[in-house]
Amino acid sequence: SNDPLVVFTPSGKRGRFPVGTPVLTAARQLGVDLDSVCGGRGICSKCQITPSYGEFSKHGVTVADDALSEWNKVEQRYKDKRGLIDGRRLGCQAKIEKDVVIDVPPESQVHKQVVRKRAEARDIVMNPSIRLFYVEVEEPDMHKPSGDLERLCEALKKQWDVKGVKADLHILRQMQPALRKGAWKVTVAVHLGVDRQSPRIMHIWPGYYEGSIYGLAVDLGSTTIAAHLCDLKSGEVLASSGIMNPQIRFGEDLMSRVSYAMMNKGGDQEMTRAVRDGMNALFVQISKEAQIDQALIMDAVFVCNPVMHHLFLGIDPFELGQAPFALATSDALALEARDLDLNLHPTARVYLLPCIAGHVGADAAAVALSEAPDKSEDLVLVVDVGTNAEILLGNNDKVLACSSPTGPAFEGAQISSGQRAAPGAIERVEINPITKEPRFRVIGSEIWSDEDGFEQSIATTGITGICGSGIIEVIAEMRLAGLLDASGLIGSAEQTGSVRCVPEGRTNAYLLWDGSAEGGPRITVTNPDIRAIQMAKAALYSGARLLMDKIGVDTVDRVVLAGAFGAHISAKHAMVLGMIPDCQLDKVTSAGNAAGTGARIALLNTNARREIEDTVRQIEKIETAVEPRFQEHFVNASAIPNSADPFPILES
Ligand code: FES
Repeated sequence: SNDPLVVFTPSGKRGRFPVGTPVLTAARQLGVDLDSVCGGRGICSKCQITPSYGEFSKHGVTVADDALSEWNKVEQRYKDKRGLIDGRRLGCQAKIEKDVVIDVPPESQVHKQVVRKRAEARDIVMNPSIRLFYVEVEEPDMHKPSGDLERLCEALKKQWDVKGVKADLHILRQMQPALRKGAWKVTVAVHLGVDRQSPRIMHIWPGYYEGSIYGLAVDLGSTTIAAHLCDLKSGEVLASSGIMNPQIRFGEDLMSRVSYAMMNKGGDQEMTRAVRDGMNALFVQISKEAQIDQALIMDAVFVCNPVMHHLFLGIDPFELGQAPFALATSDALALEARDLDLNLHPTARVYLLPCIAGHVGADAAAVALSEAPDKSEDLVLVVDVGTNAEILLGNNDKVLACSSPTGPAFEGAQISSGQRAAPGAIERVEINPITKEPRFRVIGSEIWSDEDGFEQSIATTGITGICGSGIIEVIAEMRLAGLLDASGLIGSAEQTGSVRCVPEGRTNAYLLWDGSAEGGPRITVTNPDIRAIQMAKAALYSGARLLMDKIGVDTVDRVVLAGAFGAHISAKHAMVLGMIPDCQLDKVTSAGNAAGTGARIALLNTNARREIEDTVRQIEKIETAVEPRFQEHFVNASAIPNSADPFPILES
């Protein structure tokens, strides 16, 4: 045909269209992902495109403007009122005249990708469950009587192909004034549900609504509650904020909270109230920070461990405190925020990811969604280290999961000079293998300690203790420097030739820092400290090892360390201790807060929710408590690095 050829980039989709066809129409016919909220009326500017010939754009110079029809009035009006970047056109207004290559910039794509910073991480494809639609509704007519809602739904069907829309009473109450105020033009926020199966109007604005709507991705941990506030139109994270979990006053760890519920009548309800109150306070804080109206938060995704899951929902966690650790439900839950007393939009939706097993929660499911072991070619071990280590091992063939009770030692608890990772904590340690002298770095100070120059820097920061990553490093360094044997015993000054090995109780300790002359602390690493870390790391390793047995392998291809702790420990030191199985060091990476990222993926992409529900159903759950080999692995893994399993890569 002689019709002009139109090629869209980056999709590469192409077709011939009659002269005068609007670009948006061509895009729709070809299935090109080009956004539109106003339905081609020149109001929303979501349909912006850049005409260009060939693949190499000429740095903002419009070379192909003449290939689209004359700048038209609607665009001019838009440009005068709101501005339009040079070279950009409104896709619904610009019409095709000659052969043209049209670029759809990322911000004009509905399913735009939210880029994640880590090289190995998949980008997030936008597909939120709630979307905005601008519609023109037919005016009522006495001769064809029908309700305003019916005509609104008809318009949504005709103009947006959204069928079977329902509306709650609260929408019915606002709808008639909104329709009339907007002169029969309104913007509606519609919760589309999976596959647009059960669309529901959540909000109505007269005319074209310029603003955005928001969602929350919440990682509800036993110690902290962290949230990301996201723009549901752009996918952007507008603010991230966290608070301590107010349930801490009922017990530091999960089991003490379960027993609080058992020992105190109504104790579970008290804790449910505490966590919801805390969460509402966090929502106020994060909305302030992002300067948005809290009532425009319409969607929220929560990830948490099973005990927090039950306490948040108001379910007594009693059954989770005893074998066989039955969950009330392991399925994903789609609820309304008001059922959970959350102060968000009046009909805000809440989604909880599925739990994997009685000990492996929705937080682990979120890690699986973020790190996608089920899509990995090579065998990947993913560990989320907290007071319970949640462990996933697998590849695109199968994935196994278990949890292992590591206890709080990795967080600096149970350690004589231990503290949380905060300014003043020693976080990095090196010990010279010849002189056995340490140098270290303190959180809040950029520089490493050494003979000269350091004293001054600590005078301003002050050294207060040693955090989880610091304790891992110092113990591994002690082992490498020959101050510590494989069983975890610290040698004496005579044995090691280091005056820093001092007697303490019936064993020895290593003096890392003595600030007592200046009124500061004396920081030693004691044998009980080492014992606590040995127990914790043995629990972590034996969980991983058990999963490796089940798959029938002795090594893994990759290790991903998730969680705040995983972000701070050094791979080398973790391996020297035998926390994680032997692996190429450059194949050990940190994923940061993968549970929070998984929550964000589920918030921004409804398909991901279904995907993870399927994945979780297929994950094979291993209960460490009933596996006889777990004990054996645990005993072997108490040695540093291990008394039975080889670490050939580490040794070479
Ligand atoms: Fe809204 Fe073009 S589709 S301005």
